[in-house]
Amino acid sequence: MIWGNIVFDNKAERAATEDYVLGDTGVTVEKGMRVIIPIYTMHYDSDFFQDPETFNPERFMDGYEPKHPQYAYLPFGAGPRNCLGMRFALLEIKMCITNILRHYRIKPLPTTKVPLEYKKTVFFLTVTEMPLKFEKRTDVK
Ligand code: HEM
Repeated sequence: MIWGNIVFDNKAERAATEDYVLGDTGVTVEKGMRVIIPIYTMHYDSDFFQDPETFNPERFMDGYEPKHPQYAYLPFGAGPRNCLGMRFALLEIKMCITNILRHYRIKPLPTTKVPLEYKKTVFFLTVTEMPLKFEKRTDVK
C-alpha cells in the first residue's frame, strides 16, 4: 500500500518511494531507504511531553494542556495501516486492570526498581523484573 511517498509493508517499517526531505533538518530520506520510527524516544522527548519521566495519565485526557502533537504519541502506529486491534486491545487492557484492581491492592517492594529497568533488546520493550506485592482486598466482594 502506498500513502503519500511512503510505502507501507506488513512490518512496523516504512520504505520511501521517492526522495523526501525532512523539513529544514537537511536530512533526505532517499528512495528505497527503510525507516523505523523510534517510538520510545519520541514518547520520552521533552519537546513533545512535559516532564516525560513523570507518571501523569491526566496528560492524555481531553482538554489537558500542554497537549502533545498528534503524531508524537504512536503506541498503535498511525495512518491507514495502524493497529487493527487497537480498540480491542484497549478494551482488553482496561478489563484486565479493572479486574485485578478490584481484587488486589498492588504495592512496590523494597526491591522494586524506580525507575524501571528495561532489557536491552529490540522490538518489544520488556522490564528486567518488576517485583510487586499483591494484597487481597477485603473491602470488596
Ligand atoms: C497493547 C496491544 C497492542 C499494541 C501496542 C499494538 C501495536 C501495533 C502497532 C504499533 C502496529 C503497527 C502499526 C503501524 O505500522 O503503523 C500494529 C499493527 C497491527 N496490529 Fe496491533 N497492537 C496491539 C494489539 C493488537 C491486537 C490485540 C490485535 C488483534 C486482535 C492487533 C492486530 C494488529 C494487526 C492486524 C496489525 C497490522 C495492521 C496492518 O498492517 O494493516 N494488535 N499493532
